[in-house]
Amino acid sequence: MVFEGGEGSGKSTQARLLAERWNAVLSFEPGGTPIGARLREILLDRANTDLEPRAEALLMAADRAQHVAAVLRPALNRGKDVVCDRFVGSSLAYQGHARGLGVDEIAAISAFATDGLVPDLVVLLEVPAEEAQRRLAAAGKPDRFESAGVEFHAQVAEGYRMVAAHNLDRWVVLDGSGSVDEVAERISAVVEDRLGSGPHAVAGGVS
Ligand code: TMP
Repeated sequence: MVFEGGEGSGKSTQARLLAERWNAVLSFEPGGTPIGARLREILLDRANTDLEPRAEALLMAADRAQHVAAVLRPALNRGKDVVCDRFVGSSLAYQGHARGLGVDEIAAISAFATDGLVPDLVVLLEVPAEEAQRRLAAAGKPDRFESAGVEFHAQVAEGYRMVAAHNLDRWVVLDGSGSVDEVAERISAVVEDRLGSGPHAVAGGVS
């Protein structure tokens, strides 16, 4: 299963907690492989003010292709449950919607990158913009995305809502505000309801 959300949504903390609880493999994008770590540096470096949106989208896709082939599929093939902090949904919301490249176009390159691997469940954590800003300010120096501005992040949130609304069979939108424990409780209830025995992933679609 996958966690999605904007900056400061708390999804990385929740992904870690759920993975511990389920004894699942925990991974993340971008940067979940050694090659991906190098791509992540390029993608998040604030000095790269001239990175073209299409190049950004393709670097995300390259990171994902490497991650799927080197980490996610091998773990699933070993019978492990996988919890992933960001996946295709991030590209649909950030590059497809917020950067304006088109959700359908990004879905197409994402399907190529994943070779058809789709999560069984995507939990989208939503927090009010002011709370996300507060959490981010406490986290230290912002990266290239974190410093992209309020309007960009509003577009990301809108993109996520659209993608979730079109994929109600697999996406669940949860309130990410409140304490870590409160949010973890909300997530556990949904995961147990939807997946029963644990956060697996299955093959066969695009987001
Ligand atoms: P992180 O802060 O959750 O580690 O993610 C790094 C940044 O990369 C975050 O600002 C969202 C962005 N991102 C995209 O724009 N598209 C993607 O496909 C992914 C995986 C992340």
